[in-house]
Amino acid sequence: KDLTPIKDVYSKDFLIGNAVSSEDLEGVRLDLLKKHFNVATAGNAMKPDALQRTKGTFTFDEADKLVDKVLAEGLKMHGHTLVWHQQSPAWMNTKTDAKGQTVYLGRQEALTNLKTHIKTVVEHFGKKVISWDVVNEAMNDNPVNPANWKNSLRQSPWYKAVGSDYVEQAFLAAREVLDKHPDWNIKLYYNDYNLDNQNKSKAVYNMVKEINDRYKKTHKGKLLIDGIGMQGHYNISTNPTNVQLSLERFISLGVEVSITELDVQAGSDFKLTDKLSDAQGYLYAQLFKIFKAHAKSIARITVWGMDDGTSWRSSTNPLLFDKNLQAKPAYYGVVNPDKFM
Ligand code: G3I
Repeated sequence: KDLTPIKDVYSKDFLIGNAVSSEDLEGVRLDLLKKHFNVATAGNAMKPDALQRTKGTFTFDEADKLVDKVLAEGLKMHGHTLVWHQQSPAWMNTKTDAKGQTVYLGRQEALTNLKTHIKTVVEHFGKKVISWDVVNEAMNDNPVNPANWKNSLRQSPWYKAVGSDYVEQAFLAAREVLDKHPDWNIKLYYNDYNLDNQNKSKAVYNMVKEINDRYKKTHKGKLLIDGIGMQGHYNISTNPTNVQLSLERFISLGVEVSITELDVQAGSDFKLTDKLSDAQGYLYAQLFKIFKAHAKSIARITVWGMDDGTSWRSSTNPLLFDKNLQAKPAYYGVVNPDKFM
């Protein structure tokens, strides 16, 4: 009860976010969310399979309820995600052929599906969101030759159906909507994990640079991709120096950066010793020292869930609060990195 709100500690630096489902927006969970956080991401409710499971039928009710509640409680909302290889309905980029086999759609049909989804969703939520993850996780895990970013792209259904320019096409579709609404001020993000891996971060750097350079030439120096989201699914062996190197590499591109899905695995089988819990707190502290030092270029730091009990990787205790919603050393590492170290 007497805990310092995380969002107050960083009010001059960046927004502090959490991932939410509708169950997080009631009772004590909502109290905790409002106390410490000022922006939310829907953990699942705004993904393609939630919004357009059947072609042409958009189901916004649940997401609308969630977004409206978040805004009514005084938090901002980030949109996640428009294009991904997971939690996306198969019809968007594949079909069943005459022999009953699944095959990829032709480029034009897939592109139309991609663009229709993006435009409808961006238009629908409008300025209720401050930013969108336009494309999520397009890059391979450990690119051998990051200079050749096209060869480093994940062989996802979108890649197979559309080709390597699906990323750029997705951003162009989202940008087209924003251009119709000059008052919206919504940032368009490329979002990915393991960006502390230097090869992966270089490949993403090269992709964003090429796409933005091309756009700038014909659009008076404006960016097509406004920001890069480093998901931040770390573990206690993650080397913070690698996180810093990638962060600085992205900042040098002139885009804003956000940490979009932060968590730090520690322990296993739902067990966490004091020693590992402290090591986890120490890593959170090291990371927040780095984030604070780069606050000018960081828009938002979002933690991926409230407590270890409801985390997507619950068994490895990755969050700031335990399953009883009690603050862990990880919380103290975040609110007072200097003291913790
Ligand atoms: O809603 C159903 C429920 O009806 C059913 O009974 C239950 C049984 O399995 O599943 C429920 O759906 C689950 C959903 O989360 C909601 O809890 C899905 O199975 C489960 O796969 C889904 O996991 C989500 C995961 O993305 C799927 O890829 C996690 O909650 C979500 O936190 C996670 O988030 C992703 C980001 O979007 C992208 N980056 C990685 C991150 C972690 O995987």
